[in-house]
This record gives sequence, C-alpha cells and structure tokens, in this order.
Amino acid sequence: MSESWSTDSWKKYPALQQPEWPDPVELGRTCERLASYPPLVFAGETRSLMDKLAQVTRGEAFLLQGGDCAESFGEFTANAIRDKLKVLLQMAVILTHGIGKPVVKVGRIAGQFAKPRSSPMETKGGVSLPSFRGESVNDADFTESARQPDPTRLERAYFQSASTLNLLRAFTSGGYADLKQVHIWNQDFVAKSPQGQRYGKLADQLSENLRFMEVLGINSSNTPILREVDYYTSHEALILEYEAALTRQDSLTGHYYDCSGHMLWIGERTRQPDGAHVEFLRGVKNPVGVKIGPDVRSEDVLTLCSRLNPQNIPGRLTLIGRFGHNKIGQCLPGILRACKAEGLAIVWSCDPMHGNTFGTPNGYKTRSIEHILSELQQFFAIHKAEGTWPGGVHFELTGDDVTECVGGSQEVLVEHLEHRYHTTCDPRLNAAQSLDVAFLVSEALRKTE
Ligand code: PEP
Ligand code: CO
Repeated sequence: MSESWSTDSWKKYPALQQPEWPDPVELGRTCERLASYPPLVFAGETRSLMDKLAQVTRGEAFLLQGGDCAESFGEFTANAIRDKLKVLLQMAVILTHGIGKPVVKVGRIAGQFAKPRSSPMETKGGVSLPSFRGESVNDADFTESARQPDPTRLERAYFQSASTLNLLRAFTSGGYADLKQVHIWNQDFVAKSPQGQRYGKLADQLSENLRFMEVLGINSSNTPILREVDYYTSHEALILEYEAALTRQDSLTGHYYDCSGHMLWIGERTRQPDGAHVEFLRGVKNPVGVKIGPDVRSEDVLTLCSRLNPQNIPGRLTLIGRFGHNKIGQCLPGILRACKAEGLAIVWSCDPMHGNTFGTPNGYKTRSIEHILSELQQFFAIHKAEGTWPGGVHFELTGDDVTECVGGSQEVLVEHLEHRYHTTCDPRLNAAQSLDVAFLVSEALRKTE
C-alpha cells in the first residue's frame, strides 16, 4: 500500500462489492454534484466522537451503536426516526444506570443504505438478476428495471440523510432528549411489556433523582448535560464513489474527513488489508470501525490495525466482532492477546447479530435472542478473563413493534415472523427486545466488574 493518499487513491486497489453502474458518465455527474453539496457532518464533531471513543479504550465509557440493517426510502417519516432515537436513548439510560459510566451513542442512521451481498446475482424461478444492494443503489423488487443500479439513488440517499440528521439534531438539542422526558421515551406498546415496566421503574427512580437534584439547584436550564445528548451517526462505507464525493479537507487542520457520517466502518466482506476500502479509510481522520468475523486471523487484525491506525491513536479504531455464539469462544481470546501484546488502543465492540442469522422452515431470515445474549455473555466473560475492557455493543434494531427476531420476554415465535416482518435486509430487534438486551448487557457487565 503506497504512502501517498488521495480521495481517489483507492481506485488503484481492488474494490469488492461495488455495483456495476450501467452508465459511468451518469455516475460521474452524480458524484460531481455530491462533491459540490454541503457536508453532512463537521470535522469538529467527528473529533469529539474520537475523544469519547478514546475514553472507551481506557475503560472509562461504553459504546452503544445501533439502528437499521438498511435504511429505506419508503420508511422515511419523522415518527420512524424519532422512535429509533427513543429506543437508543432508553437503552443508553439502562446502560448508564447499570454500568455507572457514560454511554457513547452512535446510530446506524442517516447514511446506512448500501448493502454487501454474498452473491452478485439472485436467481428466482430460473431468472437471474443483479442482487439488491440497498436503496442507494437499486430497488428490492425482483424485476430487471428495479435491480438496475441507478446512481441518482446516491443523491437521494444524501438528501434523505441530510433530512434525517436535521431532525436528529433538533431532537437531541431541542429538549426532546432532556432526561426529564425519560418516561415519554417508553412507547405505548412497550410500556405494557415486562421490559417496558422494568424500564418504567428505572425511569421513576431517575425522575426522583432529578427532583432531588433540582432542590439542590441543578436542573436542565442551568446544566445543559441534562437537557442535551450527544448522538452520532455511522454507516458502512461501502460505495466508495459516494464516500469519496463527500470527503472534505478541514480548513482548521488540513486533514481529510469523510463528511457523510461521524463514524464509518468497513464490513466483513470488504476488509482485505490490500483492498480499496482499507486504502480509502486509512486517509480520512474520522473514527473508523472494522467488522471481523470467524475467518479473521490475529495476523490480519494486526495488519488492519497498522494500516488504519499506524500511530495507535486511541478512539480511531473500533473492532466489531461478529463471530456467532458458537464461534466467539474460539476466535476472540487469541485476537485480544495479540493486540494486547502490541499495546494497541482499540474499542472492542460486539455485534451479536451478524454471526447468528439463520433461515426458518417458513422462509424467513431470523436471529434468536437466546443466541444474541449468549454471544454477548461470552464477550463479557472473555474480556474479563483477558483483562481487557469490553468497550461496546453493535445492534440492528428499530423502534417499531416488528416481528423479525425470535425470543425475548414477549416470546416472538417462528410462526409470528410473518406478522410484522418489515426489514429491507437483516432481521432487527424490536423496541421491547432492545430493552431486554440492554438490561442483560448492563447486568452482565456489572457481574464481570
Ligand atoms: C451489516 O452490518 O449489516 C453487515 C452486512 O455486517 P457484516 O459486514 O458484519 O456482515
Ligand atoms: Co445487517
């Protein structure tokens, strides 16, 4: 990998999982327009996220990252955005209370449109068409025109991300995230469930503490931290033409930032150390993540660390393990030891979703809460045994009452999946299951301390 980096040096390396755009001229024109538009996020914001993630590497904070597997153009409403924020805020309250450390909140939102696929083509009834690659590339309908990659979709994804971010910024600084609202975040359909009631009790306790603090003169008018919340955006940096078009040179530092989101990650399928995705992300200064699955070797992890974070800057690199409940035990300890021996500063995060997907006899792709909890529990136990800090968790979730993952206190069964299976890609935790998981994480972490 050459030393000199530019926003298009990645073009000299193999780029996997890129769409076959039918009209490169149109792609070029779209990217020129994207490059002329305002950035979605600012360099200073990504630096503040980096500082928070640096605290995570020191065991002083915990990372909570979550949202849709894939955002969609169809599900683009204020309520859907608000409800995704609500559930993450609820989970953060549960975790902050349980762990006694600040929780860094990062949504898979405002840019999470493109998807890597296991096969470039999909065949149904003898017909083969290009696979669906996320709505910023093509459409999920199984017709030739729908599956044709269309670069103007990248522009639509940009505008939807801008609008989503605008609402998130309003919610997080305009009073909606005020801790006084802890009860309001509990949605009606969740409030009646066992996890919702458990959350309600926690919210009562918190409200009582806030009243006590108010008596002492500490309130949200004079203490902004009670009123506002830092919430960051993230997505998989998959379509490199899009990411490069949104990369800007910061006038303060002269460094390059990918201004399509605060944190970008490289997926399990595109993390080749000599590939285009690693080349591109090594040159931008945002915090970056890499997904690592059961096939990764410790040497690969060390190479990725030296490419993406040669100066070992704390907070720059998050490794997101997605091994599966039956593989994490073999995979994670060796990787932790190798990185510890090199003194690497890493945010260790656990994605208990992507290694635990399976198909049901009635034709659904699902995940079971039992496997998700098992991978999480093992993640905490392994870190305890190795003397490293289990820095965070990464979930696919939604604020809606969907039936996509099985299990949880509300007992979603395989035969319920057809009721409300709405995801455009992978199965997500619903709002109640998300609270279930947050309570478990907080208990498991407390136990390992
Ligand atoms: C994802 O996060 O949606 C994804 C595709 O993950 P992975 O790269 O870990 O398979
Ligand atoms: Co996914």
